[in-house]
Amino acid sequence: MLSRNSLQALSAMFDLQQYLDSQRRRINAALDQRLPAVTERPSALHQAMRYSVLAPGKRLRPVLCLAAAETIGRSDDTALTAALAIEILHTYTLIHDDLPSMDDDALRRGQKTLHIVAGEANAILAGDALLTLAFEWLAEVCAPPPYPPNQLSLELARAAGSRGLIGGQVEDLAAEGQGANADTVDYIHRHKTAELILATVRMGGIAAGATPSELAALSAYGENLGLAFQIVDDILNETATAAALGKAAGSDRARGKMTFVAVHGLEAARTRVEQLTREALSALELLPRASEPLAELARFISSRGC
Ligand code: IPE
Ligand code: IPE
Ligand code: MG
Ligand code: MG
Repeated sequence: MLSRNSLQALSAMFDLQQYLDSQRRRINAALDQRLPAVTERPSALHQAMRYSVLAPGKRLRPVLCLAAAETIGRSDDTALTAALAIEILHTYTLIHDDLPSMDDDALRRGQKTLHIVAGEANAILAGDALLTLAFEWLAEVCAPPPYPPNQLSLELARAAGSRGLIGGQVEDLAAEGQGANADTVDYIHRHKTAELILATVRMGGIAAGATPSELAALSAYGENLGLAFQIVDDILNETATAAALGKAAGSDRARGKMTFVAVHGLEAARTRVEQLTREALSALELLPRASEPLAELARFISSRGC
C-alpha cells in the first residue's frame, strides 16, 4: 500500500481536467436521461427546466458529491442520484436568483436567463418543479447503514431551507445598499452558498456509508470549501468579464451587494480564500485515504479567484 507521502507525489500526476470531463459527461448524460422530455406535457415547462439544467454549468457540486463518495470507497447509483438532485436544486436557486425581483440578471451559464426566454411565471414554476423533483429523486434511494434511510433528503432539505440557503438569500437582498458589516457578510456566505456545498460533500460521504470520523473530516472540508467558493464568486464578479463567467460581472458593486470584497477589499478576500483552502486541505488529512480529486478540486476552486 502507498504511504500518504508517495500518494502526495502521485497527486502531481492526477489530471483534474480529465477527471472533470469524465464526471461531467456522466452527470450530463444522467441529467438528460432523467429530466422529463420536452414532448411530455406541459411541454413549455419541461423545456424551461431542461434549458436551465442542461446549460453548461460547471457541475462542481455533483462532481464534489461523487468525489466524496469515491473517497469513502463507494460511488454507486445512490451517490449519483444525490449528485443529480443537488444539481437540479442548485439550478432552481440560480433561476430564482436571477429573477427581476431578486438579482435581475440577464445572463446565466452563457445564455439568456430563463425569465427572459420563457417569461417570469414559467421561470418561477420551472424553479419550483426542479426543487420538487430533487426530493422526488432522493425519495427513490436510501442512505446505507449506519444512516437512517431518509438522511440524504434531510441533509438537502436543511441546507436549502430558511435556516440555510433561503435564509442567506433573504439577508443578501436585505443587505443591498447597507453599510459594510462583517458579521452580515459571513451570515450571507455561510447560508446562501456554503451550506449547500457542505451538504453536497456530506451527502457523497453518507451515500458511501462514511464512518462518523470520515463524515466529520468531509464536513470540515466542505464548510471551508463552501466559504472559499462564495468569496471567489465575489472576487470574480469584481475582476472578471461576463464573457469569461457566462454571467454578469460588475453587478455586485452596481447593486450595492454586501460581498466579501465590498466589506474587506480584494486583497483580504484573496488571503481569506488561501486560508480557507489550506483548512479544507488539512481536513482531508484526517481521512484514512488521500483524495486527489477532493484536494485538486479545492485548489481549482480557489485558483479561479487569483
Ligand atoms: C453560482 O454557482 C452560484 C453561487 C453560489 C455563487 P456556480 O458558480 O457553481 O454556477 P454554475 O452551476 O457553474 O452555473
Ligand atoms: C447565488 O449568489 C446564491 C444562490 C443562488 C443561492 P449570487 O447571486 O452571488 O451568485 P451569482 O453571482 O448570481 O451566480
Ligand atoms: Mg444573489
Ligand atoms: Mg446572483
